[in-house]
Amino acid sequence: MPATANKQEFYKELALELSGLLSGERDAVANAANMSALLYHSLAKVNWVGFYFLKGGELVVGPCQGKPACVRIALGRGVCGTAAEARHSVVVPDVHAFPGHIACDAASRSELVVPLILGDAVVGVLDLDSPLPGRFDEEDRAGCEQLVAIYLEASKEGLLR
Ligand code: SME
Repeated sequence: MPATANKQEFYKELALELSGLLSGERDAVANAANMSALLYHSLAKVNWVGFYFLKGGELVVGPCQGKPACVRIALGRGVCGTAAEARHSVVVPDVHAFPGHIACDAASRSELVVPLILGDAVVGVLDLDSPLPGRFDEEDRAGCEQLVAIYLEASKEGLLR
């Protein structure tokens, strides 16, 4: 975990750091790359952090940190496809208990997926994996949704093109 024991405080600080990192840059891929790196190195006990972007009706892996991942995920498939289709975040405390979970790294035990929504459109997802069961809770969900909002605000021009 972070230097601060309080998770809300931690995400507040991370949000400030992310805002600084993305400020002045609109390129959606560049911002996704730096955001993945920031999260991967700031969050404790994560083994994969990255983006999938919706392209031609399916999710295609984007900038990420961790082991190589599945390249394409159909809408409605796995945790990522489920979150994209449902248009809300999905927290999975135990991936082995999630029907249809797609195992990219066998070490992953819990997962948090936040959809990227611009206006009416889902443009992708942010996916976080942990080797620890139950790693992500409601505070992580809310915190990561805030971080995604910062990413979308900074990158929306590039994403809508
Ligand atoms: N576990 C995800 C697939 C993506 S990887 O974890 C990087 C899923 O079930 O959608």
